[in-house]
Amino acid sequence: MAYAAFRSIGAYAPEKILTNEDLSQMVDTTDEWITKRTGIKERHIAAENETTSDMGVKAAKKAIERSGIDPAQIDMVVCATISPDYFCMPSTATIISNKLGLGNVTAFDISAACTGFVYILSIAKAFIESGMKKNVLIVGAEKLSAITDYTDRGTCILFGDGAGAAIISATEKKEEAIIDVHTGADGTYADLLMTPNGGTGSPHDSLTQEAGSCFMQMKGNETFKVAVRTLTKDVVDILKANNIESSDIKHFVPHQANYRIIKAVGDALGMKEEQVVLTVAKYGNTSGASIPMAINDIYESGELKAGELLLLDAFGGGLTWGSALVPFSPLLRF
Ligand code: UT7
Repeated sequence: MAYAAFRSIGAYAPEKILTNEDLSQMVDTTDEWITKRTGIKERHIAAENETTSDMGVKAAKKAIERSGIDPAQIDMVVCATISPDYFCMPSTATIISNKLGLGNVTAFDISAACTGFVYILSIAKAFIESGMKKNVLIVGAEKLSAITDYTDRGTCILFGDGAGAAIISATEKKEEAIIDVHTGADGTYADLLMTPNGGTGSPHDSLTQEAGSCFMQMKGNETFKVAVRTLTKDVVDILKANNIESSDIKHFVPHQANYRIIKAVGDALGMKEEQVVLTVAKYGNTSGASIPMAINDIYESGELKAGELLLLDAFGGGLTWGSALVPFSPLLRF
């Protein structure tokens, strides 16, 4: 049987930085409020002509280079995004694979908001374990600044742009394999976090409204409570199902939405401070890109080493959620 190994990570954050101070000139807020309620200090914002696929390509190039795998061997590209280059088609994954010159590969996007990276990880794992694919490039990429209402202080302080990518490859070595991925969704909470207008579900005349039609809207406080509950349960379930203790986890990588959410979940799970990966202060919430950007940070700082066990934990619009137990298995070690 083929197993799926997490071979490499790469990420990209755009050059421009939007600070809390900058935001306090735009809406009625303060650095103190944002820092206290979210832990966010700044977020990166893509250039006007920089697309989601542009950022995805930059992250993917690093992941491919670090994987040691010949790009010609990549047979599938999956992109998680809620801010695609184009509304319906072509998919951002096809644009990324074309810009990378990957030729004839399977390519498609999925929409699972902030849980997107865990969803595409599960897809890569399933395709590889079934024997259908051998080397899958997964990309979480978001230009959330394009769907953020910068007059709404309840949301604009949270979101940022960026991308993260990973190569998942077939292996025969069980010790290299992704141990488990759990995913779930509950549409009864759909209205907590949504872009209400612009699709076929919105009133017809809203399509004629400009600008605000595709901005994100969020019931922040309700979302917060469900997030803490769901993220905690996700981890309890996946650890129990695999007979693994929280102390066995080297790096707990939760979706970076809000420091208070991460702290509450980490405390409920008995995670030590050094286990919890935190990047929310410098990137804000980058939705489907947040987890791979965080993994990339610990890779680039030298904290993530071959063989160490990552626990991913995500939650987002839909509502969707997911968790994953992932040993970091770069090719070069074995
Ligand atoms: O990634 C997907 C999942 N997303 C999340 O998990 C985000 C979850 N939610 C959150 O992170 C938090 O709910 C927020 C950071 C969005 C808001 O924090 P909160 O502690 O839940 O605040 P709140 O919405 O209960 O609002 C408290 C007060 C309100 O004023 P009043 O009614 O008490 O007078 C708000 O109007 O804070 C006010 N407020 C602000 N004040 C200054 C809301 N946003 C701001 C702001 N600056 N930016």
